[in-house]
Amino acid sequence: MSGIRTYTMVKPTAMRKGFAAGIMNKITEGGFKIIAAKMTKLSLEEAEAFYAIHSERPFFGELTTFMSSGPIMALVVEKENAVEAYRDFIGATNPEEAADGTIRKLYGTNIGENAVHGSDSDENAANEINFFFSDREIF
Ligand code: GTP
Ligand code: MG
Repeated sequence: MSGIRTYTMVKPTAMRKGFAAGIMNKITEGGFKIIAAKMTKLSLEEAEAFYAIHSERPFFGELTTFMSSGPIMALVVEKENAVEAYRDFIGATNPEEAADGTIRKLYGTNIGENAVHGSDSDENAANEINFFFSDREIF
């Protein structure tokens, strides 16, 4: 059984470019219901904890430095089969390879600054939601 919730966040470059509202609008138009939202900023240590599964990847330092470089918009979204549906909706990791009309194609800058995150499993979605939100912040 696949879950109905996933975690996403608008990454710092997209925030700096003023894309947060446009991205949230696009998410809603895509049939996802936003059930939690918070503008916040990760410390380097928090970014390292959030991306711990990537700690052995060569771009880990670049990724965590970037993700702690400015505010992000943390979101929980709801839809049937949320994790897979949302990953399809945002497009490939590299915006240049993302399908037309996807969030990463529309709002991404490059493979690191690719506009948004999307959880890759129900288990990670639950962990990531708990990382950012308490139960009383989710509606
Ligand atoms: P997320 O939804 O952000 O987890 O993206 P993903 O699942 O499509 O990609 P993955 O989990 O493999 O990588 C996590 C994040 O690391 C990506 O979203 C990118 O921002 C970043 N990333 C992946 N590959 C590279 C790379 O080659 N260079 C840099 N700088 N960042 C990368
Ligand atoms: Mg991932």
